[in-house]
Amino acid sequence: MKSSITLDKYAPVGQIDERIYGSFIEHLGRAVYTGIYQPGHPSADENGFRQDVIDLINQLNVPIIRYPGGNFVSGFNWEDSIGPKDARPRRLDLAWQTIETNQFGLHEFMQWLDKVHAAPMMAVNLGTRGIDAARNLIEYTNFPKGSYYSDLRRQNGAEAPFNIKTWCLGNEMDGPWQIGHKDAVAYGKLADETAHAMRTVDDTIETVACGSSALTMPTFGSWESTVLDIAYDRVDYLSLHRYYGNQDNDTPNFLAQSLDLDDFISGVVAICDAIKARKHSKKTINLSLDEWNVWYHSNDHDAQDAKWQEHPHKLEDIYNFEDALLVGSMLITMLRHADRLKMACLAQLVNVIAPIMTDENGGAWAQSIFYPFMQVSTLGKGTVLTPIVKSGTYGTKEFAAVPYVDSVAVLNDAGDTVTVFAVNKSLDTPQEFTIAAGDFQFDQVTLSSQFAGYGLKETNEDGHMRLADNTSHYLADDGVHVTLAPASWNVFQIKVQ
Ligand code: AHR
Repeated sequence: MKSSITLDKYAPVGQIDERIYGSFIEHLGRAVYTGIYQPGHPSADENGFRQDVIDLINQLNVPIIRYPGGNFVSGFNWEDSIGPKDARPRRLDLAWQTIETNQFGLHEFMQWLDKVHAAPMMAVNLGTRGIDAARNLIEYTNFPKGSYYSDLRRQNGAEAPFNIKTWCLGNEMDGPWQIGHKDAVAYGKLADETAHAMRTVDDTIETVACGSSALTMPTFGSWESTVLDIAYDRVDYLSLHRYYGNQDNDTPNFLAQSLDLDDFISGVVAICDAIKARKHSKKTINLSLDEWNVWYHSNDHDAQDAKWQEHPHKLEDIYNFEDALLVGSMLITMLRHADRLKMACLAQLVNVIAPIMTDENGGAWAQSIFYPFMQVSTLGKGTVLTPIVKSGTYGTKEFAAVPYVDSVAVLNDAGDTVTVFAVNKSLDTPQEFTIAAGDFQFDQVTLSSQFAGYGLKETNEDGHMRLADNTSHYLADDGVHVTLAPASWNVFQIKVQ
């Protein structure tokens, strides 16, 4: 089969905001305890932070990390997580029905972020709490000194303010499972008033309002409209969450779900812009896809879990090769929306639906999905070019015309290197793929990498998966020609003029 991407030098989608390569640490399962934090572990530093995990996260190049939830935040008292550790309360976490010891809290998170070179995306509790707790928290984190909460922070060892810039106004407040779930009007008013109070303490922050927790929510669309109608002037981003699974073991349909993500993003952009027009506003609301991933492998296990344990094994999806292909395709989809998608968080980062897993009595390892994420987050920098992709298509039970090849190209800021990401979704047929130069002149292929040759259900617990060179490429007058293996993730870098 033949397919191609043609580079259009003069038609940029937009500059990539590297915060789309963010991730997420929730107090859930073993994300924190025995994940990033395990005092006494052989690799733990003086703070109890696992260095083996830090080393893997640093390879992923994650610029921003959402914290502390997720559903967890909707029952969380932030004050429980500060001050001397032996005085911090053990609490019931109602969201996941576990025990939260609060041994890792706000200060520990901020210290740990320095080690992984990431900024915080902090969520406030708009479930059981509201404006009052949020204004106190931002006084604690961002106010320099001379007030009750800022001086409490200094007393707890942080003289300088944390200056947290990005704030999520609650989590999935449209979901009936959420503690303190609200209807759109009640949430819109609360988000608006909370943002108002927080901005009064620090007017340099940016806020993210909860959009729909999935495209399939019955309130999708009307929720977004109502919330923005009320809170438009005080929020900067609207959130989207999306998870996919292959419960029916229908891989062609599973791999097609990036098209659903594409629709979801386009739909939310359209809603934001409709409200903008209706309000005659000059302000544009951008998107934060602050939870996305594959999530389904652990569902059966988790349904049987005993309640009220400390850091139980929860949401520990073991990812296979086809999951990596969909993650790659979701990343390509996100890049195609670089003009409006400004933040995103792979949910989550360690142990909980995560690219990195730990053994509490052993080491840490990278899942299959680690590889496409790492390549896009390290190489996908600059400007996305409008993707002109030609490919044959296939049909599935949910999608009529799915391109076999999903691809996008990025021009770096220096203007001398194009990076092309491509997935071949055909399970049995290679693609003769052309990267057509358009108005560029191609000098040299400097990277030709593939993630291929693994069984669709193959996993990486033993660490055998590797990115490999794709030596099939050659440079001709019309561009680069290369064979994409069936079921493969591919990355090319080309020096251009
Ligand atoms: O990421 C796991 C959970 O998924 C989060 O806590 C919640 O926001 C979403 O439903």
